[in-house]
Amino acid sequence: MPDTEPIDLPGGDATLEAILAAAWQLLERGARRASEDWHWPVLASVDARDPERAAADARVVVLRRADRGARELEIHGDARSHKRAQLDAAPRACLVFHDRARELQLRAWGPARTHVGDAVARRAWDTLAPSSRRAYLAPRAPGEPTGAPDANLPEAFRDRLPDAAQSEPGFASFAAIVMRPHAIEWLRLGRSGHQRARFEWGDETAGAGTGAAPASTWIRP
Ligand SMILES: Cc1cc2nc3c(=O)[nH]c(=O)nc-3n(C[C@H](O)[C@H](O)[C@H](O)COP(=O)(O)O)c2cc1C
Repeated sequence: MPDTEPIDLPGGDATLEAILAAAWQLLERGARRASEDWHWPVLASVDARDPERAAADARVVVLRRADRGARELEIHGDARSHKRAQLDAAPRACLVFHDRARELQLRAWGPARTHVGDAVARRAWDTLAPSSRRAYLAPRAPGEPTGAPDANLPEAFRDRLPDAAQSEPGFASFAAIVMRPHAIEWLRLGRSGHQRARFEWGDETAGAGTGAAPASTWIRP
């Protein structure tokens, strides 16, 4: 289906299968289109670097890839970032999507694996535009305090973009973060009652098989 076609959302007589299909359609389109709210989820993680004081953390990210067949959601970040350290220490993440116009919330929970310098990272890196690659040329680790405002970009690329060869050193700092949801929850608000459903694959560990159909259930909103 072309990306400009409207996506028909399942109505009050929806089946769980139709809801799950719509969810993946919205996710896959959202990864391709910056104009969709689905392009801008919030990634929540556990900051367990100090196990005595584990705490929630969350930030806006860009959904870069959604793949129903592989059941994967991909985002990108700096390999030196807090989120990467958090996910490596505690790879249980949650992605929250909010589609304002459709009055929809989708939450996806699952292990999130960070890929740095491997084939997964390379495939993702090769699709990136210079404007996205430039951020990974940051000379210092993101999140460090600084005495004065600092864009953390090399002098040469403050006002212009690197070409492919010039951006290549950024690959060392690039992380592709791939989440494989073991559960997805759909909530759609409606005048005559809200619609809430949950889909569970039951394979909470990273690397488990893609699994067949999820256990699906309605949930009271
Ligand atoms: C609109 C928007 C999109 C963003 N997209 C990303 C992204 O795709 N990846 C990323 O690492 N940070 C992204 N950020 C920055 C994060 O929200 C966050 O501030 C930064 O990554 C530091 O997070 P951390 O300290 O938890 O690692 C985005 C911020 C905004 C406002």
